[in-house]
Amino acid sequence: MSNEIYLPASDRYTNSVGYQACGKSGLLLPNISLGLWHNFGDVDDANEALKMIQYAFDHGITHFDLANNYGTPFGSAETNFGKMLKAHFSAHRDEMIISTKAGHIMWDGPYGDGGSRKYLISSIDQSLKRMQLDYVDIFYSHRYDANTPLEETMGALSDMVKQGKALYVGISKYPTEKAREAYQILRENGTPCLINQDRYNIFTRQIEQSVLPLARENGVGCIAFSPLAQGMLSDKYLNGIPENSRAAHSYGFLQKSQLSPERIEKVSKLNEIAAQRNQTLAQMALAWCLQHPVVNSVIIGTSSVKQLQDNIEALKNLSFTADEMWRIGELGA
Ligand SMILES: NC(=O)c1ccc[n+]([C@@H]2O[C@H](COP(=O)([O-])OP(=O)(O)OC[C@H]3O[C@@H](n4cnc5c(N)ncnc54)[C@H](OP(=O)(O)O)[C@@H]3O)[C@@H](O)[C@H]2O)c1
Repeated sequence: MSNEIYLPASDRYTNSVGYQACGKSGLLLPNISLGLWHNFGDVDDANEALKMIQYAFDHGITHFDLANNYGTPFGSAETNFGKMLKAHFSAHRDEMIISTKAGHIMWDGPYGDGGSRKYLISSIDQSLKRMQLDYVDIFYSHRYDANTPLEETMGALSDMVKQGKALYVGISKYPTEKAREAYQILRENGTPCLINQDRYNIFTRQIEQSVLPLARENGVGCIAFSPLAQGMLSDKYLNGIPENSRAAHSYGFLQKSQLSPERIEKVSKLNEIAAQRNQTLAQMALAWCLQHPVVNSVIIGTSSVKQLQDNIEALKNLSFTADEMWRIGELGA
């Protein structure tokens, strides 16, 4: 373990991003979690990737969110993360919450997609091998699969916990009524749902209607993904599409068509509100997600340490006036 890399533990945690209990569980999650969907694959800068993980960990970001298909090519984010863990963090495994998922297409044939027991159990075994881990902290069903009985998908999650392959389980992007059934089945199986992961940002607020209230009712925690709408909720696209941005990459998920003139005009107005709060737009967008009482953490993606530094600063101002909330709400609609 290198001393240049790690701050003493007391600094890491006392001067850190801070933690919230995940739903009614005893598990504390950092206010900001780091996601490895983009920027950690084989096509990305490996040095910057390591620096981001180190910087995050040194600032108390204990939660790293992955999935079987993260990275280009699929699986490479888990493989690269596993190598970093082994080389630099092996003494710190018990200080980390590592999550992974399966549910979207991962490999050819009928067993590499969906919610079947066959797919989920094979997938967690593959993820553990790629990350060189004995267990993950959280395993998610990455999406609801209408072609598989919910009892089968939830049964596979419960068995992972019983087999010691995952400590907790969660669901992602489930329709509300299916989430309600999933919570019930997981409770009956003796492996309650820890967490629901869904898209939430100033431009995408649907989960406020029923997903968030239902989670609260069931004591399930909530973690918001794409809190910056993949980078749109920053100042980076105000003057065109910069080289090396997600929208510029052929393998990025942000489509140029999403950056319409109407959208950019709203971003520009949001940027003005952020400036009045002495925040960058990215900081304001993260603070806005975290002010929701049911949101326990935001999972950010970053392509540089500089972005990570900028985003952590969001935590310095998490309160909004009623007028700011109203103006942001109008622009997000
Ligand atoms: N459960 C699911 O189905 C699901 C789906 C999507 C995501 N997720 C999880 O959520 C994580 C985050 O998703 P996301 O990457 O879409 O999150 P995001 O935070 O909304 O977007 C991340 C992108 O925003 C840009 N960015 C970040 N900080 C910035 C800053 N300070 N200034 C300017 N630009 C900034 C970067 O874009 P550039 O690369 O252009 O620099 C970065 O790659 C994923 O890694 C994954 O773990 C889960």
